[in-house]
Amino acid sequence: MESFLMKFYPIIEINLNVCITILLTILLLYYIYIFITFNDKYVDLSYIEVDPDRKVQSDLPPTYPNGWIPVIESRNIGLNQLKNLKAFGQQLVAFRSQTGRVYVYDAYCPHLGANIGVGGQITKECGHECIRCPFHGWAFKADDGLCIKIPGMQSNEIPTARLKTWETIEINATVFVWYHSHGVKPYWFPNEIHEIENNEWIYEGRTEHIVKCHFQEIPENGADWAHIQELHTPAVMAGNVINRSRFYSLLTKLFGHEWQSKWWPSSAPDSHIAHMSLTTTNTVFGYPLLTIHFNIRQIGPAFVELLYESSAFGGITGTFIQLITPLDVNRNRIIHQIYSSQTFCGKLLAKFLLYGELRMLERDIIIWNNKKFLKNPIITKNEKSLLQFRRWFNQFYTKEDPRKQW
Ligand code: FES
Ligand SMILES: [Fe+2]
Repeated sequence: MESFLMKFYPIIEINLNVCITILLTILLLYYIYIFITFNDKYVDLSYIEVDPDRKVQSDLPPTYPNGWIPVIESRNIGLNQLKNLKAFGQQLVAFRSQTGRVYVYDAYCPHLGANIGVGGQITKECGHECIRCPFHGWAFKADDGLCIKIPGMQSNEIPTARLKTWETIEINATVFVWYHSHGVKPYWFPNEIHEIENNEWIYEGRTEHIVKCHFQEIPENGADWAHIQELHTPAVMAGNVINRSRFYSLLTKLFGHEWQSKWWPSSAPDSHIAHMSLTTTNTVFGYPLLTIHFNIRQIGPAFVELLYESSAFGGITGTFIQLITPLDVNRNRIIHQIYSSQTFCGKLLAKFLLYGELRMLERDIIIWNNKKFLKNPIITKNEKSLLQFRRWFNQFYTKEDPRKQW
């Protein structure tokens, strides 16, 4: 029997090698297929909460930060379209006029409070583009929100009424609204990413998550060096909840990520900007396979650009954009878009990064959804950037800002 097996052993061995190679090839092709077709994902994780009462506390920071808040992606509002929006606890309506400019208004009509985003129409009155309320037909000028037509009324009988118009800016394929709890005018502006504005980098997809935590927890993550080592080192395939199972241990021996990061704030006149340098090395059996360097800038409280470059495949560049919108008390939307240089390898890397970011971010979200905000955390000597971050982020609040507790 033994000699019989010995005779066939080389054949069995060859077949085993062939089978493993075929399996690995199938796995590789499967992931390439997933990455190439990965384009847009929406996940509402706000319901993932073990104990809804966990955050009853009285020392949360103010509910909404002041600054430019992203409210809608440019691609989601076409010419002559009205869109309903929610941001910083308010109902808003956006309108892209025929000139291409986007206006954002309070959604509620000053006459009797109808929501203009629900059934409102675009009309032309006295040569002006107008928004017409669906309830009694009052028409408001698009550019300043002034009411200029009421059905059955002469122009001199029209009471002074105006839709509140928010200051907006459209940049990097995103519409931002200036929010300030005390009505202070904008004193800084979001930066343009030239490669996006010039179509040098092309859009390769997005993810969107709804998250339940205080707004500040999200940007604070960037300055939290220690969590990166713990939460983001396991391979993407380990999923979004890290269980320390045997399978997980095996997987992390095979694939993993090594991180180096540093966070620091800018000084005046760019004090609304904070920087982060992040280098990730994807490893296989502990050997470095692909290194990507991120040069990250947090611009104000709600917008982050994450420029990346890798020397692999002859050099690839691109960027993530992170847009955080505080929707309501402790309920936020996080959007990540990715733009990349226009090569096949650039596209493939962008898809790989977008997919990886989805898994990595969800690990954070599950923590955020279930954690408390601690005003006075106990930190180690290596975590000073956390306190630095909090001092920096304080500039986006005023003392009197409203605080709604959980
Ligand atoms: S509520 Fe808008 S016209 Fe009456
Ligand atoms: Fe994180």
